[in-house]
Amino acid sequence: MKLVSWLKNSGISARELASRVETTEATISRLKNGHARPSLELAQRIADATGGAVTANDFLDLGPQAASHPSNGLNGARILLIISGGIAAYKSLDLIRRLREAGCGVRVILTRAAQEFVTPLSVGALAGAAPYTDLFDAKTEFDVGHIRLARDSDLIIVAPATASLMAKMASGLADDLATAVLLATDTRILLAPAMNPRMWANPATRRNVARLEGDGVFFIGPGEGEMAEAGEAGIGRMAEAPEILGVLENLVGQAGAKPLEGRHVIVTSGPTREPIDPVRYIANRSSGKQGHAIAAAAARAGADVTLVSGPVRIADPLGVKTVHVETAADMLAAVEGALPADIAIFAAAVADWRMREQSREKMKKTATDNEMSLDLVQNPDILKLVSRGHLRPPLVIGFAAETRQVVANAAKKRQAKGCDWIVANDVSEGTGIMGGDNNRVSLVTKSRTEDWPEMTKDKVAEKLIARAAEHLTAREAAAE
Ligand code: C5P
Repeated sequence: MKLVSWLKNSGISARELASRVETTEATISRLKNGHARPSLELAQRIADATGGAVTANDFLDLGPQAASHPSNGLNGARILLIISGGIAAYKSLDLIRRLREAGCGVRVILTRAAQEFVTPLSVGALAGAAPYTDLFDAKTEFDVGHIRLARDSDLIIVAPATASLMAKMASGLADDLATAVLLATDTRILLAPAMNPRMWANPATRRNVARLEGDGVFFIGPGEGEMAEAGEAGIGRMAEAPEILGVLENLVGQAGAKPLEGRHVIVTSGPTREPIDPVRYIANRSSGKQGHAIAAAAARAGADVTLVSGPVRIADPLGVKTVHVETAADMLAAVEGALPADIAIFAAAVADWRMREQSREKMKKTATDNEMSLDLVQNPDILKLVSRGHLRPPLVIGFAAETRQVVANAAKKRQAKGCDWIVANDVSEGTGIMGGDNNRVSLVTKSRTEDWPEMTKDKVAEKLIARAAEHLTAREAAAE
């Protein structure tokens, strides 16, 4: 049964259910409205709390196996299996069967070459759902196919991984569904290579393996022994299904740390663009890199993330709901529309001013005027409005881009805005921070200031999200 109907029928409020399943009311309301999907653990708690009336399957379209109860570490894991074209592909049929027995939801992608070795029909029968086979399958692409496949899995395993598929991965090629998914994912990837021993030993394959390992891809095998081809032996045999299951279990277990699971996080990012006339606007140099990195880090930590972004040149982060806006007024409306939330982080460089009245026609210069002035009014201060508003999230974080007396100004700003923390950074010319990949910030809270060393914007994001998660947990523990 859908959660919304259950709440209506049972007469239990969203708040009450939230407390029974140890999450926030904001999360329940987003689940109810179909704006978010729970992690499998949360889905399990909801199933318990609703006496089995609302199960994981009401949120996930992975088939009945995702909600079953075998007792091992893979139960409920969402596995995407990519089968590439090698003779070892037949072993993957056994792998699918075992994954399902272990309680995994299994989706399968077959490359074109794989279909020479195993058929979509046999794979579909074992997996319980038809495999995906083509990048331009209108049916799946309509549902943002490959991006969704990339996102909706706890782990991706490529078995067998051929030399050719690894070469494509190593150089970032995305010319079919399998490689597009592999390039578009931020999920962990496990490769089970299988190939002729001479191909495995070839310097090109060695280079590709080293590069993939450097990129954080995991490997199992290949082992030594008889090849499927008659008369061939050496290193190149695909790992056996039970071994693969063991490694998967470890990886899924490690990936399980989701400190923001069930939380809703709102992040603003990028500049705003305030129109002057139909062709001109007021903007700034913000790249959106820091805000986008924060949204991505929050998603990796298990949060349900709404990113409200001004116009930027970087891609929407994976696994994040991104709302694109232009002006400060639009940004405010999008943020208000996304509330309630557990954490709000305002990393956008919002224009302070906008035109009192935007000119409908392109403003022309005249022969007589040497000067011209624009009539500007102040934009709404989104951070301040949210910090002082009735839907104020329990943790509100602002940014302060300063060029002098960074920390002192940030502390003042924290009070003036009414937020909990300010992340202060020095954006003076020459620091390279505005638009760059690195950042050096100080975290200013009510009681203290921490100076963080220079690090990448991704690392700043990760550290900030980890701190925010700890803060929420500590705050809730103190309130109990
Ligand atoms: O006042 P100042 O622009 O320096 O404050 C910076 C902080 O306030 C940032 O977190 C920024 O995202 C937020 N801000 C906002 N709306 C504005 C101006 C700033 O949310 N109109």
